[in-house]
Amino acid sequence: MSSKAPITTGYRTSARITAVGSYLPKRVLSNDDLEKIVDTNDEWIVQRTGIRERRIAADDEYTSDLCFHAVRDLIERYPEKSLEDVDYILVATATPDTFFPQTAARVQAEFGIKAAGAADVAAACAGFVSALQLAGGLIASGLHRKILVIGAETLSRITDYTDRTTCILFGDGAGAVLVEAGAADSKPSWLHSFARTDGEDGHHLYRSSLSPSIGEHSLQQSGKIVQNGRAVFRWAISRVPESILEMLNEAGTAPEDVDWFVPHNPNMRILDVVSEKTGIPLDKTITTLEHTGNTSAASIPLALSEGVRSGRIREGQLLLLYGFGGGLSQSGLLIRWMA
Ligand code: UT7
Repeated sequence: MSSKAPITTGYRTSARITAVGSYLPKRVLSNDDLEKIVDTNDEWIVQRTGIRERRIAADDEYTSDLCFHAVRDLIERYPEKSLEDVDYILVATATPDTFFPQTAARVQAEFGIKAAGAADVAAACAGFVSALQLAGGLIASGLHRKILVIGAETLSRITDYTDRTTCILFGDGAGAVLVEAGAADSKPSWLHSFARTDGEDGHHLYRSSLSPSIGEHSLQQSGKIVQNGRAVFRWAISRVPESILEMLNEAGTAPEDVDWFVPHNPNMRILDVVSEKTGIPLDKTITTLEHTGNTSAASIPLALSEGVRSGRIREGQLLLLYGFGGGLSQSGLLIRWMA
């Protein structure tokens, strides 16, 4: 495939990300701290996951609080932006404070946004990119023009700290972006959208709530994250790279054209294999994994925020945002940064 091939747009829209913000709770849970809780050690965790520490919400801090902080950071970094005319709020989360009211409604109330729809998007680690895809669709249809999209999690509240194979992975955090309609004659920023789901494998990664089973698979009723780590690992290193290549092929572009790959951050070994199989080098991959752990729906906006703050992400660059995990689902979006 030629790297000069034109990039097709999956849907025509002038939607673009115009501002970003993020927040990490103050409390740090290091690998040394985990050694005191379960039978593990720093060397094992770093070698198997690349994670050194994660942030943990304070006892009185919930997912909505993390959203508020991330949005305040966005407002501070982009003082010219106003939330007054935001007309929709989407919050991607697997850890809402309450199932209803949805977290997005809490955000609407906190910032006094007068005329906005509000919905939570439950697609686990693919949630933030799924929410961006929905925002792009709402803008492309002409129904909405300015959408606040947030990915936020307090996974520490649903992590089983007696299970050493899962508690080493997860952390808390939030990231927020503004998605706005551009001028009618502006170049497209949203270039290609992609999604896949393997629901038949959903029982490998879940948190039980109302139903006792998924198909013939009965679920543990702990209310905590339950994971078959090896099965999820195998799925991620086979399905994710092949799907990314399928997506880039559909878009008429090549891995070498991607300026920044911003994937979900599950485990560095998974990202190593994805890099190897797709040909997108690790030095073009933005992650926060080492210091945040796996923050599910928050991991991509946290990495985006970091990429912009550090000056790595710049106008005109081609970004591949790619979420994958619980479902088991994948959501990808190819964007020209603020084109
Ligand atoms: O957003 C998507 C979320 N999920 C993921 O990304 C998870 C994907 N899976 C993984 O990241 C990996 O499967 C884990 C990091 C969870 C586990 O790594 P692994 O290399 O698949 O380990 P394993 O489950 O095959 O276990 C290997 C050994 C076992 O000991 P034995 O049976 O060989 O004696 C485990 O008991 O490592 C042991 N082990 C540990 N040892 C020290 C498992 N967890 C730990 C631990 N510390 N925390």
